[in-house]
Amino acid sequence: MARKIHISTTVNGNEAEFLARPDQTLLTALRDELGLTGTKEGCGSGDCGACSVEVDGRVVCSCTMLAAEAEGRRITTIEGLASGATLHPLQRHFLKEAALQCGFCTPGFIIAAANLLERKIDPTEAEIRFWLAGNLCRCTGYDKIIRAVQAAAADMRETAGRTPT
Ligand code: FES
Ligand code: FES
Repeated sequence: MARKIHISTTVNGNEAEFLARPDQTLLTALRDELGLTGTKEGCGSGDCGACSVEVDGRVVCSCTMLAAEAEGRRITTIEGLASGATLHPLQRHFLKEAALQCGFCTPGFIIAAANLLERKIDPTEAEIRFWLAGNLCRCTGYDKIIRAVQAAAADMRETAGRTPT
């Protein structure tokens, strides 16, 4: 059996160390070694976005990244978005707009949308649809998801005291 690799990384703002097989994906390491089961496996081949996490500020499919590549990186998973008991605006509005049914795709959508809103607080509908094109949902028909992202962006603009440009 291949020896496990020791990995030191930062997950959701906290230092994290774990052992992973050389061929282990970041997705299974997050779920099985760190117990962060919010990140889901859909296709396992980089096609659906269900497993999206942020790595050093970029959205990555954790099913196609090796855990070993996480060494020294800064990772954000869905568990890192809420602030204590206070949900992230995207989480609040996904609930309010009923932008989920089975919910399997939801963590990936929210991670990707949060990354977009970090870059641009007032995206157009076309920009939201383009940004989320790599995230697939079998249930909602997408419109509710787009509305939830728009509503969260509006909330975040208000909180930041900004107006749309
Ligand atoms: Fe990773 Fe589908 S599970 S892209
Ligand atoms: Fe079921 Fe998106 S809510 S796949």
